[in-house]
Amino acid sequence: MAAQSSSVLRRALLYVPASSPRMLTKSLGLTSDNITYDLEDSVTPSAKPEARAQLRAHLLASPTRPPTVSELAIRVNPVSSPYIDADLTSLAPLPNIDAVVVPKVNSASDLQYISQALSHHARSPQREPPKIIALIESARAVMDLRSICAAAPGALSGLIFAAEDFALDLSITRTPDLKEFLYARSAIVTAARAAGLPSVIDLVCTSYKGEAGLARLEEECRGGKAMGFNGKQCIHPSQVETVQRLFAPSEKEVEWAVRITIADEKAAAAGKGAWTLDGAMIDAPVAGKAKSIVDKAQRCGIDVKSLQEKWKDQEPE
Ligand code: COA
Ligand code: MG
Repeated sequence: MAAQSSSVLRRALLYVPASSPRMLTKSLGLTSDNITYDLEDSVTPSAKPEARAQLRAHLLASPTRPPTVSELAIRVNPVSSPYIDADLTSLAPLPNIDAVVVPKVNSASDLQYISQALSHHARSPQREPPKIIALIESARAVMDLRSICAAAPGALSGLIFAAEDFALDLSITRTPDLKEFLYARSAIVTAARAAGLPSVIDLVCTSYKGEAGLARLEEECRGGKAMGFNGKQCIHPSQVETVQRLFAPSEKEVEWAVRITIADEKAAAAGKGAWTLDGAMIDAPVAGKAKSIVDKAQRCGIDVKSLQEKWKDQEPE
């Protein structure tokens, strides 16, 4: 299995508790950009050794990633916990682990510890160690984002915002519109972008049942995407399809972007940097955004070619 490229898509990141044989088996038939087997908070302290052994057996028994999953990850216990070394020793050398999700990252030294341990456990000189994805879930971590992002160059591949522990740390009262997390979420997206990290993943939507759960999930996905997150953590398979769909460019967005990229080439050939489409001014940043939407749509498997054919005669106004 090839190491993940830095352009890996992470729209849905689905946690699967390592303590549940039933969910481990179920995970093999799911379609998700990322599946993360969890050894941290979904596993009680007394169940950790057994969950770890169970996960190792599961990964050894299915040594290749299912074709419907782009990335297999494990969420280990925090660096400050007594479990971290056993987690890494028993699981990091396995060939089908693409990434390690590290919870409660509070400082650069937490990530340095993980990246050194992963290099040590690297399976062979030809293979890169698994990527690292850091959970940001404390006030201290938000204040230290710049150094955290710089702690493991080349290995750190994304940040995740974890709302529950963050709310606990700050004694935050949660509200449905998530305004109490605005600063932290925005700081995390900005830091990830400034450091050139390929992904930044938003909070879990804990309500997953029925129409109300789905409506809340959709609203959170739209809000997260608008803030610049490229994906969202999921706790139940029923959330994954919605997250994958809402974090891909919408049909309307792709059509808009295709029209702009086609007309922009013509405008550029005619020497025009600024032009209009549907009465709105288009210039370099807008055309750049359109191009990135087209690229993302292609990576999400959307049929961009048909739209390009449909709009091939689009002219700048
Ligand atoms: N991964 C894989 N399979 C899962 C799953 C998950 N996260 N959550 C549920 N399933 C499976 C169930 O095993 C069940 O499978 P079956 O059809 O073979 O019986 C099916 O999906 C339907 O599950 P359902 O009965 O609706 O949910 P549940 O009551 O069994 O579990 C939770 C509900 C919330 C306990 C469970 O979804 C879960 O543990 N989620 C992950 C929690 C977690 O990892 N938290 C830490 C990160 S924030
Ligand atoms: Mg947490």
